[in-house]
Amino acid sequence: MDPTDGKVIKPMPKSGMSFDAIKEHLGKLEMPDPYAHFARAFRGPQDVQDVGKYAYERFMSDNGFFSLYLPYMQTIEQEVIAMGVSLLHPQENSTGNFTSGGTESNFSAMHAAREWAKINKPNVKNPNIVAPYTIHPSFQKGAEYLNMEVFTTDLDENGRGVAANIAAAINDDTVMVAASAPSWHYANIDPIPEIAAVASNAGLWMHVDGCIGSYISPFLEKLGQKLTPWDFRVPGVMSISGDLHKFGYCQKPASTIFWRDAQLQDYHYVSIDDPFLGPYKMAGFSGSRSAGPIFAAWAVFNYLGEEGYLRLTQRLLELKAKFNDGVNSIDGLRMWEVDVFPLHFHSEKAPTSEIYQGLSDKGWLMLGLVEPEAITIPIDPALTDEAADMLLADLREITETILKDGGGKKGNIRYG
Ligand SMILES: Cc1ncc(COP(=O)(O)O)c(C=O)c1O
Repeated sequence: MDPTDGKVIKPMPKSGMSFDAIKEHLGKLEMPDPYAHFARAFRGPQDVQDVGKYAYERFMSDNGFFSLYLPYMQTIEQEVIAMGVSLLHPQENSTGNFTSGGTESNFSAMHAAREWAKINKPNVKNPNIVAPYTIHPSFQKGAEYLNMEVFTTDLDENGRGVAANIAAAINDDTVMVAASAPSWHYANIDPIPEIAAVASNAGLWMHVDGCIGSYISPFLEKLGQKLTPWDFRVPGVMSISGDLHKFGYCQKPASTIFWRDAQLQDYHYVSIDDPFLGPYKMAGFSGSRSAGPIFAAWAVFNYLGEEGYLRLTQRLLELKAKFNDGVNSIDGLRMWEVDVFPLHFHSEKAPTSEIYQGLSDKGWLMLGLVEPEAITIPIDPALTDEAADMLLADLREITETILKDGGGKKGNIRYG
């Protein structure tokens, strides 16, 4: 149901329900696995979930509001940041902040760039950002909040941004260039070295949206996959986002925003000297927040270590091969070639939106892309072979039926 469709009227109950009644009610709402797998992506296997859950529950009532001050919490948050940035070829003073998700991480970079430009580009009147058109909508959302504009540019034939197009779109009010490593849309890494060189030459802030890639690409590279360099080893990259709650396999909501240099981080902080309450400075946009996700991220990082992440990356590559073989063997379906994740496929014979609807009718909760139409398979290491086989079998049956009997209903493909 579209949440904007109807107004729910429910007064506060006069007396409370029993815990058992609450469990029963909520239990009935839970969507069944594996059909709802993608509502819960991205998760590690059960043991990793258990470790994160333990730390989360233990610290969920502690207020992350105090993470810049209270030593036990500050140490844990700083260790998560240090472990995270260690994956990204950090410079001597590279650092970061813990945020609530990719949207906040990208927002933080945009905000910092806007503040940085007040000092470094004082003639800017209406700050804008230039990015390939696959840049995630969190940038347009952030621009609304920050009174900025986003100009998007055309891609090459493989769905990657083009440095020359970015260069052509920059104007006197541009403060930031942003690109993806990878984009959700094509799961390909933009040519970050070329784009960062354009940004540097124009004296602009360069941000890499690594929400998907920051916790998987380093391990893909260690396993021998050749990827375009995209992290702090690329000169000119000033900030990188990286979602712990995607391929970090940490409990939601959790992400990181990394700064090439601690001096850039200064533009992130908003310090208020409140005449009544005293100094007010937070790690990110939130005030009060649960410390649960911070402790959970620390626990998951330490539990998995590099070896664990490599093992889970290997598992994802097995699942990728399984879906590549399985989907491509169905008449008319084509998996897309991707640098990283997620996986997408489209149909060359039956309309993709009808296949999407067929999957929904069988109970599968899937995501997709509107232009060009595609169905997304956001695999994670919690997806079992049995579940993957069930999905592939349903996909085969649905596609064959549509091809044989003609069109069904078109589904309303959406990303989120
Ligand atoms: C490339 C990219 N950036 C940013 C985001 C936003 O992340 P979140 O949903 O955690 O706010 C996403 C989410 O899918 C993404 O794929």
